[in-house]
Amino acid sequence: ATTLGAAAAARGRYFGAAVAANHLGEAQYASTWTTEFNGVTPENEMKWQTVEPNRNQFNFSSADQIVTQARSRGMTIRGHTLVWHSQLAGWVSGLDATNLRSAMLNHINGVMAHWKGQIYAWDVVNEAFAENGGRRSESVFQQKLGNGYIEEAFRAARTADPNAKLCYNDYNTDGMNAKSNAVYAMVQDFKSRGVPIDCVGFQSHFNAQSPVPSNYQQNLARFAALGVDVQITELDIEGSGTAQANNYANVVRACLGVSRCTGITVWGIPDKYSWRASGTPLLFNDNYGKKAAYTSVLNELNGG
Ligand code: G3I
Repeated sequence: ATTLGAAAAARGRYFGAAVAANHLGEAQYASTWTTEFNGVTPENEMKWQTVEPNRNQFNFSSADQIVTQARSRGMTIRGHTLVWHSQLAGWVSGLDATNLRSAMLNHINGVMAHWKGQIYAWDVVNEAFAENGGRRSESVFQQKLGNGYIEEAFRAARTADPNAKLCYNDYNTDGMNAKSNAVYAMVQDFKSRGVPIDCVGFQSHFNAQSPVPSNYQQNLARFAALGVDVQITELDIEGSGTAQANNYANVVRACLGVSRCTGITVWGIPDKYSWRASGTPLLFNDNYGKKAAYTSVLNELNGG
């Protein structure tokens, strides 16, 4: 196949990109997205501060710009994200526990209802764990609702859209370490108690300080063995040339090596729109030229 999406589809997977609605007017941005990719995650447009800036006042317009185009092309859409301590609307942090719980459940219900039946997988809870394997203490949900908020969120999400896969999503969980062990224990616990969870997202933001782990595939495989799908959800890898291309190939190979790894999403299209302030972590250069990393990903998807 000659595009990332078609090559991934031939392997029973999607290959998506994070897309920002404010770039869709740029013709090359839009055409690169729709030509090369068969999946999408709105980069910021589904986050709490955007979709529910005031209590129970929902605004889906910028996310809908992306979802409408994606649906017309049959793309796999990931919803990102329902419950996260960051990019939260200001009004949420001042609530007491009772109000925060009802606000969280109302948010999940309201957002999931809007796109019911249209989202392949939701990041129900994002980045709830700390590097040492404890819970992230700066989360208002953790502070006021305690450990049980994750389970409450997943149960509400299952009711709100029974056809969406429900994911837990985090970073620095790509290899085997204290943080991924903690997420693993949570998924194992959820599975044993019948708490609904279908997938785990591995963000996979890699750079010199945080390289592609040697036990990446092994880590994906141990989660899959718990009976959940795994997805690479926000892939970007700092670097250039052959080194970057080899790292990207290793990531693709790891996913292809795990039958329950259902797709890969890169966190942006051209380097110039990466969330990273500097660097060249994506597959397309600033003029939408295909980088060596693009070619290595396509080759790997096509069978290496
Ligand atoms: O839209 C406003 C604009 O109106 C304002 O003038 C400007 C001034 O700073 O800010 C704009 O908002 C920015 C927003 O991106 C949209 O561009 C925010 O400042 C900026 O903080 C925000 O960054 C996003 C970041 O999440 C926030 O945490 C990145 O685009 C987005 O790529 C990044 O994505 C996260 C995932 O959601 C979760 N995992 C990590 C990943 C990378 O940080």
